[in-house]
Amino acid sequence: MNGKGGETVTEKPRILVVDDEQRSLDLLARALRKVGEVVPASSGDAAWDAFQQAEFDLVISDQRMPGTKGAELLARVAQRDDRIGRVLLTGYADMQATIDAINLGRVHAYISKPWKPDQLALLAGSLIERTRLARQNDSLVKELSARNEELEIAMAELRRTHHRMASGVQLDAIGRTMAMVVHDLRGPLNTIGMATSQLAQSDDDPVGRAETARIASEEVQRLGQLCEELVEVSRAGSESLRYDDTPLDEVIHSVLTAMAEPCRAAGVAVEEELSCERSPRLDGGRMRRTILNLTQNAVEAMRGGGTLRVESRCEGEAALVRVMDTGPGIPDGIRETVFEPFVTHAKSGGLGLGLAIVRKIVEDHGGTVSIAEDSEGGNAFEIRLPIAP
Ligand SMILES: Nc1ncnc2c1ncn2[C@@H]1O[C@H](COP(=O)(O)OP(=O)(O)OP(=O)(O)O)[C@@H](O)[C@H]1O
Ligand SMILES: [Mg+2]
Repeated sequence: MNGKGGETVTEKPRILVVDDEQRSLDLLARALRKVGEVVPASSGDAAWDAFQQAEFDLVISDQRMPGTKGAELLARVAQRDDRIGRVLLTGYADMQATIDAINLGRVHAYISKPWKPDQLALLAGSLIERTRLARQNDSLVKELSARNEELEIAMAELRRTHHRMASGVQLDAIGRTMAMVVHDLRGPLNTIGMATSQLAQSDDDPVGRAETARIASEEVQRLGQLCEELVEVSRAGSESLRYDDTPLDEVIHSVLTAMAEPCRAAGVAVEEELSCERSPRLDGGRMRRTILNLTQNAVEAMRGGGTLRVESRCEGEAALVRVMDTGPGIPDGIRETVFEPFVTHAKSGGLGLGLAIVRKIVEDHGGTVSIAEDSEGGNAFEIRLPIAP
């Protein structure tokens, strides 16, 4: 394999054999030719030259030679590349040098002369294998650490991108919300501004003054409502609920009672069919707000009059509420987004927060709200709330 570390280990093994006697060199070459490609050298210096020219898997050297001795040559090899196999051939008289060389880790094995060809070939084979495994291992480690580095760079980039995106998306959302809030604040503020300057100039017109004050006070109310609704949509999740165990039907009934007068004024008949015997656990105040927003929308939609019908019942482990009207239905253009904040259509003074609040409160209660599919002509909202076992 040729790893990223650049070390080739598939070629034929190369063995450097060193002995000052030609006959011994020939014998070594013959014994090892099946194991690998044998490169002979007749002295320590010649061997060192050859060693620097090419890559070897194994060096086998006689100890006793004129000039550089075997143990010294193998020590230099070890220093250059510790993974290369190193074998010292020794005579009986070289025993001390051999022991030193082994103790200092400069050779892997020694063979005393006269050596047996089979034994030498076997030892050479296993040392070469060891060298190749060590090289392969190193190149895998190098490759792994290169991959690791790449991975770390990619992770850092990902973190940066994520951070940029998250803050970008947040800023974008905050920016859009702010623009809409400012837009909604500006209208009533302008009106109040004009009204107060008129008030200051109209000492001699009590009727006009009363009318102007009424307009200003209405606009102040609108501002207050806007603030309340903004707080409602941005409230933290279900932890902010205050369960008070008001039964669902009681909540609905109280809203319809409060809506009786506005309905009468708008020519809207009210029908009420409530039969949810097992109520889900509720934050009564906030659920009241939900039903109120839906019924207000319904009445606002039926400009020429019509019927508002509210039903409740239990279905398995859920309570179902339907708020139906005979108006024109949700306009197609906003059907998909109608539960998003600031979606409003054809309503002067509509903030587009009513249904966003409905969804928020229902979801905080673990439920869902949807536009019912089977609404005929008019519109029907359906709320499904889980009843705790
Ligand atoms: N029952 C309904 N029939 C027809 N259209 C509806 C109905 N309910 C809601 N809509 C449409 O959905 C829009 C969004 O309603 P939503 O209650 O969220 O905001 P809004 O009523 O415009 O303003 P506000 O924040 O004052 O409630 C409305 O402007 C209206 O066009
Ligand atoms: Mg509304």
